[in-house]
Amino acid sequence: MTYEPVPATHREVRLARRPSGAPAPGDLEVVEAPLPEGEVLVRNEWMLMASAYRELMKERPGLPLPPFPVGEAPTGRTVGTVVRSQDPAVPVGALVEHFQGWREYAAGPGGAFAVRDRDLLPGPEYFLSNGPTAWLGMAGMAEAGPGDVVFVSGATSGVGSVAGQIAKARGARRVIGSAGSKEKAEYLVEELGFDAAFDRHDGPALDLLRELAPDGIDVFFDNTGGEQFEAAVQLARPGARFALCGALAGQNGDDTSAGRPRLDLLTAISRQLVLRPFACFHTPDQIDGWNRQFAQWLDEGRFVYPRTVVEGGVAGAPQALFDLLDRKFYGNVLLRLTGGTDRIDEGGSR
Ligand SMILES: NC(=O)c1ccc[n+]([C@@H]2O[C@H](COP(=O)([O-])OP(=O)(O)OC[C@H]3O[C@@H](n4cnc5c(N)ncnc54)[C@H](OP(=O)(O)O)[C@@H]3O)[C@@H](O)[C@H]2O)c1
Repeated sequence: MTYEPVPATHREVRLARRPSGAPAPGDLEVVEAPLPEGEVLVRNEWMLMASAYRELMKERPGLPLPPFPVGEAPTGRTVGTVVRSQDPAVPVGALVEHFQGWREYAAGPGGAFAVRDRDLLPGPEYFLSNGPTAWLGMAGMAEAGPGDVVFVSGATSGVGSVAGQIAKARGARRVIGSAGSKEKAEYLVEELGFDAAFDRHDGPALDLLRELAPDGIDVFFDNTGGEQFEAAVQLARPGARFALCGALAGQNGDDTSAGRPRLDLLTAISRQLVLRPFACFHTPDQIDGWNRQFAQWLDEGRFVYPRTVVEGGVAGAPQALFDLLDRKFYGNVLLRLTGGTDRIDEGGSR
């Protein structure tokens, strides 16, 4: 059964070569290719862009994921609509989530596509939030809750912008975020409801954090590592919980040592800090649990979806990645691959 007319060819991005240093034009190429074939055919609508893709372009990424293959379209979290199907469990017209991003159409066995309830969230792109990771870290690892003073480093990242709001929604007393500019620090406070934020370029992280958390912190959600991790250790209260999520300080530059902070072991031991590095594998339980929680908080008006929408279709994907790595975006970065919408949305979007 076919849902709508489909073309004979589509556009996809391929990894032309592994970058040396920062990814650059020429590393990724946009090509016209025959429409992929499979039991299920999906027209891709949105893809989540992320810093991690830089790492996955390397031959040996430092992440628990396979490298992008050279000469093929990379992987990426994507949602789209089923336009042809021979699998009754994945019917035409269904909204599905999958990993065949960077292309206009995806195809494969029905099991490669997870059906989502279109009515649960305000739009298909909401299913691509970094919520599962933020939720696992803030609720599962750090157990942030009433009375806690929480610090989120890299708080304008996709994960960080959701994690800080989760802490607030769970009753944290004070949520502090770090950002890469004054404008981004303002965005955290004015649009996402953080209690305070600082621009990490304004001075030593220890001084900036101490000013905003003079009595110390109970929870640290770390997206950056480096100097901010070291500052959080110094300001941790006894028994503070650290959810260690990312190492942006080293990941997005060539100085990987920036992502490898020193641990003041004596302080960590004497304060009995709980350090929890974690990896979110987006299991069905993690995804469904988050989406239901997200829907409830959106309905209650207690949450915004922090995001930047990038137009330009598949051809715009390489530049969207370069711009993300240049820190031009806010929150979850969503690339519209095909289709369009006139929906007018609430705050948190750019
Ligand atoms: N543990 C897990 O399961 C898991 C899952 C997903 C992601 N992660 C990790 O979580 C982190 C956030 O991921 P994401 O996809 O949400 O990130 P993202 O959206 O790609 O983050 C982009 C933002 O990171 C900030 N940034 C860039 N370079 C930085 C630097 N040198 N120091 C500090 N901040 C920098 C910039 O914000 P500013 O301009 O405000 O600095 C930039 O806008 C990454 O380290 C990622 O690998 C972990």
